Amino acid sequence: METREAIAGRRSIRKFTDKPLSDKLIAEILHAGILAPSGKNRQPWRFYVVKEDKRPEMLAIMRAGIEKHREAGHSVGSSENSARVMEQAPATIFVFNPFHEDKAPGALEEVMNVVDVQSAGAAIQNMHLAAHDLGIGALWICDVFYAIEELSAWLGEKHQMIAAVSLGYADEKPDARPRRPVEEVTTWL
Ligand SMILES: Cc1cc2nc3c(=O)[nH]c(=O)nc-3n(C[C@H](O)[C@H](O)[C@H](O)COP(=O)(O)O)c2cc1C
Repeated sequence: METREAIAGRRSIRKFTDKPLSDKLIAEILHAGILAPSGKNRQPWRFYVVKEDKRPEMLAIMRAGIEKHREAGHSVGSSENSARVMEQAPATIFVFNPFHEDKAPGALEEVMNVVDVQSAGAAIQNMHLAAHDLGIGALWICDVFYAIEELSAWLGEKHQMIAAVSLGYADEKPDARPRRPVEEVTTWL
């Protein structure tokens, strides 16, 4: 697939078939992730692959986090839909930034964190494009932040959660979501 064709054809997939995903394909998608550019080549990414066996545990934790928010009177946004997507997906990859320290980030550390988060985002985008090229659907999920403490503890991670990516064979063909035209979002000088 041509790169521009992959960029234009990729969609967020929120319905997956029951067909399992081979470890080989998951590894290929992860490999595309680590080929992303990163500030100072720091490669600020660590991945956790959650497959079907561990999926019920992951979902129970995610849903407990959502419930906690609801009980506290906060909006839970689209998180229940995202949990339903994770429930169908044969694999969900959690992405963490291993370099972020929660404590006392000074100005320079904050800048470095912005750089690292961009780099991790590039890895996630690479994974989406590789998945699409391999005929696999993917959803970038930040609703995992509704259960950030619970999911991080379950994965044994103390660093910065970036996102999760659910993967599987698509059971839908969504239309392209609208985009603001380039002219509207660009100023040429
Ligand atoms: C940083 C980021 C976080 C996202 N989080 C979620 C999410 O938690 N749940 C969800 O259903 N979609 C999520 N999405 C997918 C967006 O809704 C989607 O990319 C957007 O609507 C455009 O649609 P498209 O990806 O099909 O072009 C996320 C996308 C990005 C880039």
